[in-house]
Amino acid sequence: MARTLSLADIFQLGYYWECKVLLTAVKLDVFGALAGGAHTAADVSRRLQTDRQATNILLNALVSIGLLRKSGEQFLNSPETEAYLVKGSPQYAGHVLLLQEAEWDNWGRLESVVRTGRSPVKGHMFQTDPQLAENVLIVLHRVALQHAATLAKQIGLSRAQTLLDLGGGAGTYAMAFCRAYPALMVTVFDLRETLRTTERFIKEAGLEGRIRLLPGDFNRDDLGGPYDAVLMSDILHYQDPEANAALVRKAHRALAPSGRLVIKDRFLDDGRTTPAWTAVFAVHILVNTEKGRCYTMAEAVQWLKEAGFTSVDELERATLVQGIK
Ligand SMILES: C[S@@+](CC[C@H](N)C(=O)[O-])C[C@H]1O[C@@H](n2cnc3c(N)ncnc32)[C@H](O)[C@@H]1O
Repeated sequence: MARTLSLADIFQLGYYWECKVLLTAVKLDVFGALAGGAHTAADVSRRLQTDRQATNILLNALVSIGLLRKSGEQFLNSPETEAYLVKGSPQYAGHVLLLQEAEWDNWGRLESVVRTGRSPVKGHMFQTDPQLAENVLIVLHRVALQHAATLAKQIGLSRAQTLLDLGGGAGTYAMAFCRAYPALMVTVFDLRETLRTTERFIKEAGLEGRIRLLPGDFNRDDLGGPYDAVLMSDILHYQDPEANAALVRKAHRALAPSGRLVIKDRFLDDGRTTPAWTAVFAVHILVNTEKGRCYTMAEAVQWLKEAGFTSVDELERATLVQGIK
């Protein structure tokens, strides 16, 4: 159903001051500087090596927003910022905000992208910015943990012996599939830089013996195989349609007879305005990748059919599609 917006809602949508105050505080690590105690603006600016007056203004704004408390001239974290925004806290959740902050400048170029159709970036962050990419992988890992086990059961790989997780990122799905299917061996194929993070996560989970890491560029390098199943989760929206069609054909070649390719992505419905989150995510992809786009499920179905998959099924609206070889 279409969302209805009052004038107040429209103004609220256009208001970003508090947003930028928060993101800047996270970037500067204001919450870390206040970890465990109360400090004056002068203390904080000394720790952060920032301007004292400007820091004072920022801290006061953070108090007014509810992110800090103030007692006399002393500032301190709220219980929430102490728990979630102090690096090193077991509940630290600043990665996603650091990511928003890092992408701020690209979003600032949206007008020019819309006018010219030209992206402000080269490639995408996994190719160009390993440090930022690691942040994204951590965020994606946390998100994927909420549904990876369910996905593994839903796909039903009890007869499969091998799975290739293409662009497997932190290895969240690879680990979930290993846990769901004790006989399954998984290969995570990803860029060499990304696999450093994958390796860490897999070691922490004690699954090194079940998961092989294969470094490479999936558009250029051999994928190995044959595999009983291939998973592509959230990789197609970083590429143009031609690269995706070619990658789906390549996955088809890497599969054993009767093997299956499962594609999980943020697909748009045919009208391209729903799901609502994805229609806006499409703008995020527009400004933050050189060639990426959000695709419709129908486009993915077409790549699968053209690659030669005989049976193609949508397993879940706007999210999951499977082709059987
Ligand atoms: C958005 S992440 C998805 C990670 C994981 N599949 C998930 O769903 O959580 C995209 C992944 O694709 C990998 N990737 C992007 N381009 C690649 C390429 N050309 N070759 C291999 N991996 C690539 C990135 O390194 C990253 O791990």
